[in-house]
Amino acid sequence: MFPVEVGAVNDDYLGSIFEKYLHAKKIFKNKEVLRHSYTPKELPHRREQIENLAHILVPVLKGETPSNIFVYGKTGTGKTVTVKFVTEELKRISEKYQVPVEVIYINCEIVDTQYRVLANIVNYFRNESGFEVPLVGWPTDEVYAKLKEIIDARERFVIIVLDEIDKLVKKSGDDILYSLTRINTELSRAKVSIIGISNDLKFKEYLDARVLSSLSEEEVVFPPYDANQLKDILMQRAVVAFHEGVLDDAVVPLCAALAAREHGDARRALDLLRVAGEIAEREGASKVTERHVWSAQEKIEQDTMEEVIKTLPLHSKVLLYSIVLLDENGELPANTGDVYAVYKSLCEHIDLDPLTQRRISDLINELDMLGIINAKVVSKGRYGRTKEIRLNVTPYKVKNIYRHDIQLQPLLTISMSSQRRLV
Ligand SMILES: Nc1ncnc2c1ncn2[C@@H]1O[C@H](COP(=O)(O)OP(=O)(O)OP(=O)(O)O)[C@@H](O)[C@H]1O
Ligand SMILES: [Mg+2]
Repeated sequence: MFPVEVGAVNDDYLGSIFEKYLHAKKIFKNKEVLRHSYTPKELPHRREQIENLAHILVPVLKGETPSNIFVYGKTGTGKTVTVKFVTEELKRISEKYQVPVEVIYINCEIVDTQYRVLANIVNYFRNESGFEVPLVGWPTDEVYAKLKEIIDARERFVIIVLDEIDKLVKKSGDDILYSLTRINTELSRAKVSIIGISNDLKFKEYLDARVLSSLSEEEVVFPPYDANQLKDILMQRAVVAFHEGVLDDAVVPLCAALAAREHGDARRALDLLRVAGEIAEREGASKVTERHVWSAQEKIEQDTMEEVIKTLPLHSKVLLYSIVLLDENGELPANTGDVYAVYKSLCEHIDLDPLTQRRISDLINELDMLGIINAKVVSKGRYGRTKEIRLNVTPYKVKNIYRHDIQLQPLLTISMSSQRRLV
């Protein structure tokens, strides 16, 4: 080990940063337990859902096929973690009693086509069947036929968990659900049950009535957590994650209260706690305080906004950029007509067919709903009503995001004055 000559770097700025780290108390004991991927051994305030799921699945141990289950609730209410917890437990017990149960978990945000879902199921059995379907290329009905053959190779129960099932249906329709929820009539040895999970409460409207009724033979609802419940969930992790005495008493209740305001999202609560700890650590602070939680809240909101802007459709991005230019030129608040004029000339600049003003007016409302801009309708007396449009993010942030987008890069060189010449 090299000796650290503390005295020699005392006046130097970089040295003082190192110093601070050297002497700072450690904040985290085990940060991993605050990550999304960590599954705790106990799930406070989900006893009712765990028991419901267990009751629906337990017939399997007596050799009966469990009903299909539709699980829904808002984001961060513990659906994924609870279903995984219960199905793992079921698998453990079924092994003990030598009941053949297989649980196949598929996240449809990642595996988002009918073909890939079917291929994933077939490939789950690759060791047993010695067979693997390529991830593209076969006709879908052939994969489905193979799936039936492989599943039905022996007597067993196969539970297929389709997490984020709405993503699959929105992208590729519900044919696959129609087939899978009816597959038992075509099998002679094996029995299949489906657990569908979704946080999109409107998703049911996309489903064919027959698919919906067979998928939701049973429904398990996950209500949002309230602040007290979130506090318990955080406390359970905080004692493992942080060194003793590092968290100010007010920190966990504040994270819980802020996340409760955001529709009771446990993921948000855990993120707040982790990011607050990271900010304190970076500052070289010896304690995490309320102030760090507020900074964490701000950072998370900024990051979320960035993500939302990145995933906007192209025309909304161009539209947003016209508002950015107006902002830089001190011309906000602007009305829809002003924004539309700039938008049109930007489209011309990047060879894009502009949308109609009516459509742009809808997109302005969408940007407003996402919180990226503020579009307030104001009455102009006998001149009718008009929108006052303001920007809710900094122009710098938008430009920074567009810098990485080849199609939008040409916009960055435009200034308002050159743009005026374009009009
Ligand atoms: N009751 C609980 N006890 C402990 N941790 C929990 C509990 N509920 C949720 N969590 C944690 O909160 C995070 C979010 O939970 P989960 O991923 O299960 O949410 P979800 O309902 O599936 O959300 P989404 O709809 O966005 O997928 C996870 O890190 C999970 O471990
Ligand atoms: Mg989930």
